[in-house]
Amino acid sequence: MTATKGLEGIVAAESSISSIIDGVLTYRGYNIDDLAENATFEEVAYLLWYGKLPNRTELSGLISQFNEYAAIPGAVIDQLKTYPKDANSMAALRSAVSSLALYDEEAQDMSKEANLRKAIRLQAQIPTVIAAFARIREGKEPLAPKKFGSISESFLYLLTGKDPDKVAIEALDKALVLHADHELNASTFAARVTVATLSDIYSGVTSAIGALKGPLHGGANEAVMAMLEEVGTVDNVENYINAKLAAKDKIMGFGHRVYKNGDPRAKHLQKMSQELGKLTGNLKWYEMSIKIEDLVTGQKGLKPNVDFYSASVYTSLEIPRDLFTPIFAVSRCSGWTAHILEQYENNRLIRPRAEYTGPSQQKYVPIDQR
Ligand code: ACO
Repeated sequence: MTATKGLEGIVAAESSISSIIDGVLTYRGYNIDDLAENATFEEVAYLLWYGKLPNRTELSGLISQFNEYAAIPGAVIDQLKTYPKDANSMAALRSAVSSLALYDEEAQDMSKEANLRKAIRLQAQIPTVIAAFARIREGKEPLAPKKFGSISESFLYLLTGKDPDKVAIEALDKALVLHADHELNASTFAARVTVATLSDIYSGVTSAIGALKGPLHGGANEAVMAMLEEVGTVDNVENYINAKLAAKDKIMGFGHRVYKNGDPRAKHLQKMSQELGKLTGNLKWYEMSIKIEDLVTGQKGLKPNVDFYSASVYTSLEIPRDLFTPIFAVSRCSGWTAHILEQYENNRLIRPRAEYTGPSQQKYVPIDQR
């Protein structure tokens, strides 16, 4: 038995949700470029869960469910108030999502219908949890969700207390479309492994949040912004990146296990980064990012991934840096739960083997002779 480090190239499941073939990403057969230009996040979530784009009635039905489910139990708000104000926001989200299960009467109902309702409920409640945590740590009261036409609009309202403008809603919506699903990425795989034991959907999503948190996965968008802030100015980029590359440090937001010729989502985020920079009158982050890309691609051949330009996009939307990865979770919740439902449909325990590299022929030695 020989291990494949990082399971690279291993096909670990069949799935009809999203595909990456020859560098082209599709959700249910729709090219991500087409969806990024034309679809809303709500349409995409419906597509991932039901396998088809919704008609008007189906879409408004889903949006009504999101509005209906968006409020979180008072007990979970009380818990959020007990978290340390400087808690990591993904750690807070992980704990709160785990807690949501305690107050969902359907948590242990494994019927297909109940699992789909829980998927929709989680999708509606995760943005509320994140916004509530963000407000509580600033000493503000969390807001009650209002009826909105989209998750982006609702989330921005719950975060700021203001009705968001159209540009911000559309930009966030497009970012959510781009992050919604991505085949067997690490967090989705974690979710599938968890629920393949026939554990519940909340356990699967909690596992996924834990996996997304890491800087090699979703946590990279925050690390990119930390890097941009550290570099500070366009003039500092060259020295900074050259020093990092010489030290063989990783540049966050670059490289990908599956895409070697570029992540198809990055170009949409790059365009948004430029447009939002122009609109806000601050192109600094965009210009720094472009210069970093030139250097890293030029010297290492590495291309930006989805996390690279999302950092400057979210900063232009005035979203605090440590909410970038939670926003990724808002979007990816749709993909995680679609994969969980698919796993339940045709389940088998996921239990691979390990190549043993430890000592052999050991003999037990009594404790006082060691
Ligand atoms: N900066 C510098 N060098 C890099 C980078 C990078 N961002 N990414 C890969 N490399 C180099 C590695 O050092 C390694 O070089 P070596 O062969 O000389 O040792 C080689 O490229 C292969 O890298 P691995 O880390 O083995 O590639 P892997 O497929 O395991 O990892 C990953 C992919 C984790 C995305 C990696 O490219 C990385 O760490 N990138 C930075 C973090 C990041 O942006 N993560 C977000 C990914 S997208 C997402 O999850 C949503």
